[in-house]
Amino acid sequence: MKLWGGRFTKPTNRLVEEYTASIDFDQKLFEEDIRGSLAHVKMLGDCGIIEPDEAKVITEGLKKIRKRIQSGEVEFSVTHEDIHMNIEKLLIEEVGPVGGKLHTGRSRNDQVALDMHLYVRARTLDLVQGLLGLRESLTSKAEQHVDTILPGYTHLQRAQPVRLAHHLLAYVDMFGRDIERLVDSYKRVNMLPLGAGALAGTTFPIQREQVAEELGFKRLYDNSMDAVSDRDYLVEFLSISSLIMVHLSRLSEELILWSSEEFGYIELDDAFCTGSSMMPQKKNPDVPELIRGKTGRVMGSWIALLTTLKALPLAYNKDMQEDKEGIFDTVETLTGALALMAPMVEGMKVNEKKMRENAEEGFSNATDLADYLVNKGLPFRQAHEVVGRIVLDCVQKGITLLDVDLGAYQTVCPLIEEDVYEKLQVSNVTDARKSGSGTARERVLEVLRKKRKEIDET
Ligand code: ARG
Repeated sequence: MKLWGGRFTKPTNRLVEEYTASIDFDQKLFEEDIRGSLAHVKMLGDCGIIEPDEAKVITEGLKKIRKRIQSGEVEFSVTHEDIHMNIEKLLIEEVGPVGGKLHTGRSRNDQVALDMHLYVRARTLDLVQGLLGLRESLTSKAEQHVDTILPGYTHLQRAQPVRLAHHLLAYVDMFGRDIERLVDSYKRVNMLPLGAGALAGTTFPIQREQVAEELGFKRLYDNSMDAVSDRDYLVEFLSISSLIMVHLSRLSEELILWSSEEFGYIELDDAFCTGSSMMPQKKNPDVPELIRGKTGRVMGSWIALLTTLKALPLAYNKDMQEDKEGIFDTVETLTGALALMAPMVEGMKVNEKKMRENAEEGFSNATDLADYLVNKGLPFRQAHEVVGRIVLDCVQKGITLLDVDLGAYQTVCPLIEEDVYEKLQVSNVTDARKSGSGTARERVLEVLRKKRKEIDET
């Protein structure tokens, strides 16, 4: 018998039951569902909406059911559609008809919203933890590589040399902003929807503040229709998650490129790579590739939810049941990616020699030759032109700016003197970039200290 069977003259079509049920996936919410029910029933008892001893019986029953579910002995059924009705059914079986008093003053519409608020609230904090761990790994790697210099790229063409620490600290800041976004979204997640009933509120003299306090919610919804139809916090969660995955995929892409033989900048730890079934020599960066690949499904879940919500009328609609799988999948995907990225970064071997060779090989000091001429009084645009011609000549001869002899320099531009060779050394090239956010050693050390302090204080 269905919990809502009274109004019906026939049993539900089997296909309809299967089509509308969410128990296969929303059983993930059983802890949240029971936690919410415990707070609700306590309030019902305290407010005299049900008898205090009835509240006690229900409370004990719910705790027993929680244990039974935890131990894996409970089999959920599609007949009872979702986690809420499965648990209510189990409760009535456990404690008898008094179990039917649990749902007083409540609807599944505010109940499911409560469960999702509880679930996403906890996962938001987990993600912050995961990001803090990754920032820690990136920062300690950066601390080890203040004096490792590699080419910085634009358009994936060698541009100007940078310190590896500087490169890694860029990611520390991206993930720092992701933490800020999660923390900001937290206040919209940390709201209690209960008390909205199905959509219009309830006739019972409930105490929402008590339930909010019990469950640690800082805010209450002012509008019951909003409370049951708000999925904004889920959209936000998926949007922030998408951006975190995009950041992870950019880092992944660099790890993949850098570990190719063409770059040869890093070697990922064997424990984080896999082999080929056919080619004995292969060591593949599957983990960063999968992180890069899985970014798609997280972005997909975000767009899917937006699309589901678009043009939905108030208040609850069954369409909203579609909010869950994308959220669960995203939590799983992100948790896995963050847990792997941190030790992978920590364990990678850096080929400092190859990085430096590449930084020295190209013309990543060409801007510095132009700046040198500017300091001698030449307008920048003219300096650019002169250096461009020198570079072209070097490219044709297959030499670098450091190989050009002074006589040759002076025929092109008499302003060039002996001190130019010192200026064009890659470490001097990086250290000349002392502007606020630049890659000079002293700046990088300053920023590293700042990040270390930030990390140690959180
Ligand atoms: N399983 C439903 C969901 O996830 C719970 C709410 C159902 N409410 C209803 N009126 N059918 O959205």
